[in-house]
Amino acid sequence: MKHAVCTEKSAVRRETSTEEKEERGSRKGKLETDLVAILDFGSQYSQLIARRIRESKVYCEILRHDTTAAELRKREPKAIILSGGPASVSSREAPVCDRAIFDLGIPVLGICYGMQLMGRLLRGEIVASKRREYGKAALFTEGTSDIFHGLGGQLAIWMSHGDQLSKAPSGFQVIGRTPNSPVAAIMHEKKKLYGLQFHPEVVHTPRGREILRNFLFRVAGCSPSWTMRSFAAQAVEEIRERVGKERVICAMSGGVDSSVTATLVDRAVGDHLVCVFVDNGLLRKGEADEVAGDFKDRLNLKVVRGQKRFLDVLKGVRDPEEKRRRIGREFVKIFEKEAVKIGRVKFLAQGTLYPDVIESFSPRGGPSATIKTHHNVGGLPKKMKLKLIEPLRELFKDEVRTLGKELGLPDALVQRQPFPGPGLGVRILGDVTRSRLALLREADAVLSEELVKEPFAREIWQSFAVLLPIRTVGVQGDERTYDNVVALRMVTSTDGMTADWARVPHTFLERVSSRITNEIKGINRVVYDTSSKPPSTIEWE
Ligand code: XMP
Repeated sequence: MKHAVCTEKSAVRRETSTEEKEERGSRKGKLETDLVAILDFGSQYSQLIARRIRESKVYCEILRHDTTAAELRKREPKAIILSGGPASVSSREAPVCDRAIFDLGIPVLGICYGMQLMGRLLRGEIVASKRREYGKAALFTEGTSDIFHGLGGQLAIWMSHGDQLSKAPSGFQVIGRTPNSPVAAIMHEKKKLYGLQFHPEVVHTPRGREILRNFLFRVAGCSPSWTMRSFAAQAVEEIRERVGKERVICAMSGGVDSSVTATLVDRAVGDHLVCVFVDNGLLRKGEADEVAGDFKDRLNLKVVRGQKRFLDVLKGVRDPEEKRRRIGREFVKIFEKEAVKIGRVKFLAQGTLYPDVIESFSPRGGPSATIKTHHNVGGLPKKMKLKLIEPLRELFKDEVRTLGKELGLPDALVQRQPFPGPGLGVRILGDVTRSRLALLREADAVLSEELVKEPFAREIWQSFAVLLPIRTVGVQGDERTYDNVVALRMVTSTDGMTADWARVPHTFLERVSSRITNEIKGINRVVYDTSSKPPSTIEWE
């Protein structure tokens, strides 16, 4: 999700255009799989709900909370889920949904805020709890209901709420309570409307997946047909239809997202696709050749060598944001030139992922603050007047990896670590020069070489070296040195949004450190970064 213009994801944080919305609307009509619509009220768990549903092989999309009943009807979801959210349903600013969705005849499940909202709109009674209920609780189920089918009378659940329903709306029956919430689960059996005060999507509700599955399969009658194979076949078909006789270029970084995107487009239109891979001189050791080698027989790949021009524009630039901007601009220029050379290019394929898409309509006030400019670089498509092809815009990262495997991409490629578009340009603090790039490349290569030998490498989300803009005193072979410092960064993460520093064995650090200081002239000190994200970020710039 974090790729700059320079790789495959230039414009991901822009608003969705009307044209795209229409395309997505009509696309839905063709999906041969059931759709579950999740209306997002700003919960930190909305994406997790989506994950759980897709894990059950049912396709779902997160939509704005104010998506109207008419729009929903058009998209024909098999079920609707109202997510949780941080607001109080009683406040004036509380986000609401269209009341008419409860009359569509489509099963609805309200979770936490979603349940309270359903309760309020259908005239139940809400009270602010005397104390916020947060954490584990025991739910006692009552009567029989499809949603708790096969789960027994008592369930461990996870609560996180202030308001609660004190009286269910008319026609509803209470099907679960906790010591603090007498109305913790409700159902309108005939209308198939369900509400849960707790969060079935989190792991702290151990049987939550079964509850969601009961809702999907027993209540809503969904079928588990969402697989990467069906997705691939359909995506290829759609790209072929859309592209027709035109040409597509794909900004290729060699990362998993652009590789999978390019492979799908290639299957769809073959020679009409030109993948452009720019060697900007900011890649890791051997990477440019590796990418070119990986794809030269697989795809119609054009390698553009641009090392010198990137070094030129980075000359004397120390500010991280300015580096990003300049690198981004340089990429734009190269792509523009290539598009003209190729001729008749109408589409740009890029590997936008689902989290990028949904962040553009967060009810919490839109995209989060700009931490690093790569989140917003949006010049490429607009300037080039190219239409976007984003076949992965409905997928999460791990789904893309599964899809990559399904498409027959080699394991090493599919499991590749994320790498920032501006490359080593943002891992060299201060001046980016040819000699500093060479130093960092060597140090980074030592870390990678040692890491591949370790079984714990599989748990590492990203591992790299950073060259610091300072020198320190050392003693090597009885000589005083005054040389560079390298920091090692290894983190664990599930999505790159948060991360923790990896607790790798000291003996491993010792080995890497001693190899770097012994083998690379110009580095006399190695430090290990023990910061998590937040408060730090994964990259240093
Ligand atoms: P941060 O440093 O923001 O990074 O914690 C989160 C993830 O995004 C990658 N990253 C980038 N990717 N262009 C990119 O294409 C960038 O400018 C950029 N900065 C960070 C980072 O490697 C990590 O996976």
